[in-house]
Amino acid sequence: MSILVTGGAGYIGSHTCIELLKAGYEVVVVDNLCNSSEEALVRVRKITGKEVKLYKVDLLCQEQLTEVFQKEKIDAVIHFAGLKAVGESVQKPLEYYYNNITGSLVLFNVMRKFGVKDIVFSSSATVYGNPRTVPIREDFPLSVTNPYGRTKLMLEEIFRDLYVADKDWNIILLRYFNPIGAHDSGLIGEDPKGIPNNLIPYITWTAVGKLEAVGVFGDDYDTPDGSGVRDYIHVVDLACGHVKAIEKLKENPGIRTYNLGTGIGYSVFDMIKAFSKVSGKEIPYIIKPRRPGDIATCYADATLAKKELNWSAVRDLNVMCEDSWRWQKNNPNGYQGG
Ligand code: NAD
Ligand code: WQD
Repeated sequence: MSILVTGGAGYIGSHTCIELLKAGYEVVVVDNLCNSSEEALVRVRKITGKEVKLYKVDLLCQEQLTEVFQKEKIDAVIHFAGLKAVGESVQKPLEYYYNNITGSLVLFNVMRKFGVKDIVFSSSATVYGNPRTVPIREDFPLSVTNPYGRTKLMLEEIFRDLYVADKDWNIILLRYFNPIGAHDSGLIGEDPKGIPNNLIPYITWTAVGKLEAVGVFGDDYDTPDGSGVRDYIHVVDLACGHVKAIEKLKENPGIRTYNLGTGIGYSVFDMIKAFSKVSGKEIPYIIKPRRPGDIATCYADATLAKKELNWSAVRDLNVMCEDSWRWQKNNPNGYQGG
C-alpha cells in the first residue's frame, strides 16, 4: 500500500515516513522544501534502509501534482504540508490562506480526480482557542485567534462539507498538541529555518550557546508555578498515531477527529529544568511579558484515540528531552551540517 505524504520532508512528516516504512508501507513524498531540507529524507533512508521517493512539488501547482498521481499509484494521503508559524501568519495572512487553504484545495481536487478519497490531516489543538476547562475533549467548542489557526479550522470545516457531499471520503483529522523530541538515532529532528517559534528550540539553542537565555513568556498565569502549561508529545509517538490512523482508514470510518496528546501538562519551568538535567547544562532564562494570544493551560483528553485508534503516547518527558538534546548536540546547525 502506497501513502502520499505531503510535507514529508518536514519535522513531523519525516518522522512519520520512518514509522510508515517500518510498518511496511511504500512512501511517496511531495514537498516544496520551503521549510525543510532534502537531507531529512536522505537520513530517513539511512535509518530505515528503505526507499522513499521525493517529488519537489508545490501543492499549489495542480499540473505537477497531477503528474505525481499519474506516475504513482497512491492509496491514501497524509497531509502535513503547510505554513505553521503563528506570529508570521498574523503578518502574512494572504500567504497563509493561499498556501494552506488553496494548496489543500488543489490536493483534494487532484485526489478526487484520481479516486483517492482516504486522507489523514494535520490539525492542531489551536482550534480549541482558550478552553474553559482541561483536559480538552474533541467535542469542545472551537475558536481561533490568528490566521494560522483559522486555516486549520477552515480546513476542518471544508473536510466536513466534503464528507456531507460525498460519503466515499474517509477523513481523519488529528489535532496535535505540542510535538517535541526527535528520532532516537539523533539523525533527524526539528530544524526550524530562521528564528524559532516554539519553546523547545529556544531551550536547546540556549543549551548549545546559540542563544543567551530563554525568555519565559509570563510567570503570572493561574498555573502551579505561574508559567504556561502545555501537553508536550514526543514526535515519534505522534508519527505512530499516523500509522494507526492509516490503519483506521481501512475500516471506512467516514470522518473522525482525534486529539493526539499525552494528557499531561508541563510548565515552561518544568521544561527548562528537565532539559537542564538531561543536558547537564544550566539554562539561563529571563522572565518576559506574556506573549499575546497565549493561554495559561492546554492539555488533551486522549482517551478517544486510545479507544478507537488503539494509540497512546508512550515516551515520557525524560525521553522527549534526551532525544531533542541528542539531535541538537549532534546537529548544532541542523541539516546544514551535512
Ligand atoms: P514543517 O514546516 O517542518 O513541515 C511542513 C512541510 O510542508 C515542510 O517540509 C514544507 O516545506 C512543506 N510545505 C509547506 N507548504 C507547502 C506547499 N505549498 N507545497 C509543498 N510542500 C509544502 O512543520 P511540522 O511541524 O512538521 O508540521 C506539519 C503539519 O503539522 C503542519 O500542517 C502543521 O501546521 C501541523 N502542526 C504542527 C504542529 C507543531 O507544533 N509542529 C502542531 C500542530 C499541527
Ligand atoms: C509553549 C509554551 C509559551 C516560547 C504553538 C502553536 C500551536 C501549535 C504548537 C501548530 C507557552 C511558552 C514559548 C518562548 C516561552 N502549532 N514560551 N518562551 O504556543 O503552545 O503552541 O505550537 O499548530 O498552534 O500556537 O507552543 O512552544 O510556542 O509555547 O515561555 O520563547 O512556552 O508562552 O506557554 P504553543 P510554544
